[in-house]
Amino acid sequence: MTLRLQGKHAIITGAGRGIGKAIARKFLLEGARIVVCDIARDRLETAASELGELGDVYALAGDVSQASFCDQLVQYATSVLGTVNVLANNAGIALFAPFLQQTEADWDRTMAVNVKSMFLLGQRVARVMIEHGQGGAIINMASTNGLLGERDLVAYNASKGAVVLLTKTMAIELAPYNIRVNSVAPGSIRTDMAIEGGVDESFVQAYLQKIPMRRHGAPDEVANLFAYLASDEASFITGDAVVIDGGQISEE
Ligand SMILES: NC(=O)c1ccc[n+]([C@@H]2O[C@H](COP(=O)([O-])OP(=O)(O)OC[C@H]3O[C@@H](n4cnc5c(N)ncnc54)[C@H](O)[C@@H]3O)[C@@H](O)[C@H]2O)c1
Repeated sequence: MTLRLQGKHAIITGAGRGIGKAIARKFLLEGARIVVCDIARDRLETAASELGELGDVYALAGDVSQASFCDQLVQYATSVLGTVNVLANNAGIALFAPFLQQTEADWDRTMAVNVKSMFLLGQRVARVMIEHGQGGAIINMASTNGLLGERDLVAYNASKGAVVLLTKTMAIELAPYNIRVNSVAPGSIRTDMAIEGGVDESFVQAYLQKIPMRRHGAPDEVANLFAYLASDEASFITGDAVVIDGGQISEE
């Protein structure tokens, strides 16, 4: 059986836990060689040693909102992997506050981590892909919150909306180089980020009524979609925002 990501060399951001770690695991199982990064060094080291049992994993800790770290990460990836032909821009944060109370600092940090990082890394990785002349795939993590509003998440929603249009613009400009750029828009996925939002069980039960499939998604389900979009099977898909939400935003 041919593995779908055999011969692919990928960078995955925010891979210390949650969906990013699931993407890293799936990419390895599909034959990719990977570089993982996370701002939380201990978390990254633990994840990398677990993932190392599945294949070639290299780890670099740092903050993807910093241009200097993005430079370092892409240089490191090209030196250990030879080239980069897949970028999974997954790292993101969600800071909860009502619109009237959200601080300027929270707004700036959310935009820097959730949007600027994808611009910075996307630009750097695309330059490497163009230099190698073999195309590539970039997948940016958006959210259903980038397509519809949700209370108490104003900066997060605005950042994820920006990811959707950053992606479409990158897709248009990078298409001549056979670089496909898509975003993924998950609904509610059960991860530490979702739990840190401070949800109680009665809220969770009420929330599930808004999802036609009556359950949260699992990180592995989102990782499967990333693997598909990274693979050559998705060769004519670019510029899309692919929703994975159990039907949540299909129902009024
Ligand atoms: N969990 C959900 O329901 C859900 C839904 C839609 C979209 N998403 C998006 O999926 C992505 C992953 O979410 P998750 O639920 O796995 O979150 P998570 O908090 O469990 O994991 C995110 C990881 O990113 C890392 N990170 C944060 N800031 C970083 C930075 N500046 N540089 C490098 N690494 C950084 C964190 O340390 C963490 O390990 C995020 O972009 C999130 O917005 C999540």
